[in-house]
Amino acid sequence: MTTSRLALFGDLLDFTADPGFAPPAEMRGVRWRPGHWLLIEQGRIAGVQAEAPDAGWQRIDHRGRLVMPGFIDTHVHGPQLDVIASHGLALLDWLNTYTFPAEQRHADPAVAAAGAALFLDALLAHGSTAAVVFPTVHKVSAEALFAAAGERGMRLVAGKVLMDRHAPDGLRDDVVQAERDCLELIARWHGRQRLAYAVTVRFAASSTPAQLAMAGRLCRDDPTLYMHTHVAENLDEVRWIGELFPEARSYLDVYHRHGLLHERAVLAHGIWLDAADRALLADTGAQIAHAPSSNLFLGSGLFDWQAAVACGHKVSIASDVGGGTSLSMLRTLADAYKVQALRGVRLGAWKALHAATRGAAEALGLAAEIGHFDVGATADLCVWDWAVGPVARHRDALALGRADGTALHERVFAWMTLGDERNLVETRVAGVERWSDPQRPPEGRR
Ligand code: GUN
Ligand code: ZN
Repeated sequence: MTTSRLALFGDLLDFTADPGFAPPAEMRGVRWRPGHWLLIEQGRIAGVQAEAPDAGWQRIDHRGRLVMPGFIDTHVHGPQLDVIASHGLALLDWLNTYTFPAEQRHADPAVAAAGAALFLDALLAHGSTAAVVFPTVHKVSAEALFAAAGERGMRLVAGKVLMDRHAPDGLRDDVVQAERDCLELIARWHGRQRLAYAVTVRFAASSTPAQLAMAGRLCRDDPTLYMHTHVAENLDEVRWIGELFPEARSYLDVYHRHGLLHERAVLAHGIWLDAADRALLADTGAQIAHAPSSNLFLGSGLFDWQAAVACGHKVSIASDVGGGTSLSMLRTLADAYKVQALRGVRLGAWKALHAATRGAAEALGLAAEIGHFDVGATADLCVWDWAVGPVARHRDALALGRADGTALHERVFAWMTLGDERNLVETRVAGVERWSDPQRPPEGRR
């Protein structure tokens, strides 16, 4: 429902700064306001207070529930809902066997429109209110995605995928037509509502040097555009890029040489980077969208998050469906913890949740709008149950009963690790309810 003055009661959690890999007990950057009212006026955060607001506010009581900013998924493929959970192959074979054939179907405007609606409703039903998205090479698939995100009032960054080689028929464009399509899409969608255009290079292997140069020109001519691609995900892929671009120092350098690395560049994966690559990311301001679920599922490798932090480049979190196996950022963060554990690093819930909210917003240059509950931010948020099912409820009760300084982190970490979309009660975009659990009663939803 739409209302101009709305107050939500619950346990409010957001972040004021990056908690880093500091011991969780330090609570660095954590803003925890249990049992508070979140005031929303005209779709924006108007304040937070302990006392109940007056009758001029529509009040919704989510007592005992967690309220957080909506998650920001910084790399996900809408049309790949068609191939999520496809068995048995590593990246390059997975692309050829499952992904490319599925993407071919999205040339059909009806398939593209239905796919975009299904995908965005699923994002909202998993607790993500903003995303950086790959549609397909087809202009209609980008059109469908932007139109559907606009209808839902969502913050979305996307662009037609560029790929003019090493892909099957029906899934290749050419430089001239691709540039024309990009310019038309930019004119129509970039900066409209909450939508932004990303020059979307699938990966260096599927664009000719001429197409990469065209993509670089688009970025140079309009510095407000994003750039979105994959980099250094899989060792066979890295070797192939070395053969295709022998003049480049590294895979990442291919993008640099074509003017594609900048503050608004989002590069998925970045597992197989070296120190010079990391320094280049830091210099250019480009970010890595870390996709742990996908990296585990496709067997791509273990991302070195601490090296990224040490070099000072930005890292956000991504589901990378359909390489990733869930749109849930909670499941994705649980996988991020496991990836770091295999590297001997213990990722805390604060660092993880910051990366999926405020950290992502900052990396995207959108921190004035999303990722936190600062006054003036757009009220994109989710209400969560702390625990669903007997095991999680038991674990939550034990964490809640503890009185020492780590109790809150323990509780939030258990929620992050055991929770998923079944914990979600409702999702609001700019204050408007865009998803709510039909299984939970509407009044107070409990
Ligand atoms: N590299 C090029 N295309 C893709 C894709 O669709 N998914 C993943 N995970 N990596 C890619
Ligand atoms: Zn991807």
